[in-house]
Amino acid sequence: VEARLSPDLAPEETDFILYAPGGPLRDFSPYVRARAVLSLWAGVERILGEPTLTQPLVRMVEDGLRQQMREWVAGQVLRHHLGLDAHIRRRDPVWNPVVPPPAPERPVTVLGLGVLGGAAAATLAQLGFPVTGWSRSQKALPGLVRCLAGPEQLSAALRTAQILVLLLPLTPETENLLDARRLAELPRGAVILNPGRGALIDDAALIAALDSGQVGHATLDTFRQEPLPPDHPFWFHPRITVSPHVAAETRPATAAQAIAANIARSLRGEPLMHLVDRRRGY
Ligand SMILES: NC(=O)c1ccc[n+]([C@@H]2O[C@H](COP(=O)([O-])OP(=O)(O)OC[C@H]3O[C@@H](n4cnc5c(N)ncnc54)[C@H](OP(=O)(O)O)[C@@H]3O)[C@@H](O)[C@H]2O)c1
Repeated sequence: VEARLSPDLAPEETDFILYAPGGPLRDFSPYVRARAVLSLWAGVERILGEPTLTQPLVRMVEDGLRQQMREWVAGQVLRHHLGLDAHIRRRDPVWNPVVPPPAPERPVTVLGLGVLGGAAAATLAQLGFPVTGWSRSQKALPGLVRCLAGPEQLSAALRTAQILVLLLPLTPETENLLDARRLAELPRGAVILNPGRGALIDDAALIAALDSGQVGHATLDTFRQEPLPPDHPFWFHPRITVSPHVAAETRPATAAQAIAANIARSLRGEPLMHLVDRRRGY
């Protein structure tokens, strides 16, 4: 098969569109023969909002993203689990040997057990953390203490979460999922890590929960508005770490292989992998 990759290809000659939000393409309607739009991002909530997008949409699934998310989540969990800040931020010469508990005594919950949440949960389980996972449909992931599912089991997933990792997509169902009521279900002083999407958490409820001590710390990698505006209170809160959407980035080398393999499937007449279900929103 001969492939031409060009931003200038005429719409009516284009078979597949590689797309990232923020690019020049806004109107998908002239792409009458395009078989699919392949998102360069894993999260597709912004593309799904494009009114002219009628072509099948494929989200990004590739090994580079998965590897980085494992590393980011493990690093952030270990920072809080080991209490590293006490040593890194120490000012005075005070010998204060607080030994952290071993990982098996630190229950962690991962909301979202998809490609990235599942990989992060498995990595944490390998480190010895008792990991509870939660998803929409019931899962059975080896190594996890338990897999919960559905709205009726969210309380159980939150109740034990000394560290909570959010790896859900942003959909109408998950927007503001972590509101004041849900934050109150966490154990007091819980740490929240959000590499998922900013709008999964109600911003004002999060600040209130941090101020009251209900939430001990929040490390946020994603925000309702990015870049996070310079006057946003998250920058200045002593118990918020702002991470500038760097948890996992699509890696050209591995992503190109994933895209090529998926297009090759389609050209062979096989169904594309990682199609977005518009009704579910992810
Ligand atoms: N910060 C970063 O750098 C970065 C990078 C890449 C991605 N992300 C974010 O990570 C998200 C997850 O990516 P992924 O590739 O792991 O997605 P995925 O494979 O589609 O997994 C999504 C998971 O969320 C669960 N879920 C969705 N809606 C739910 C609901 N209403 N209730 C309970 N569970 C629900 C799904 O449940 P089922 O398994 O039952 O379907 C699935 O387990 C992306 O959408 C994006 O927002 C962030």
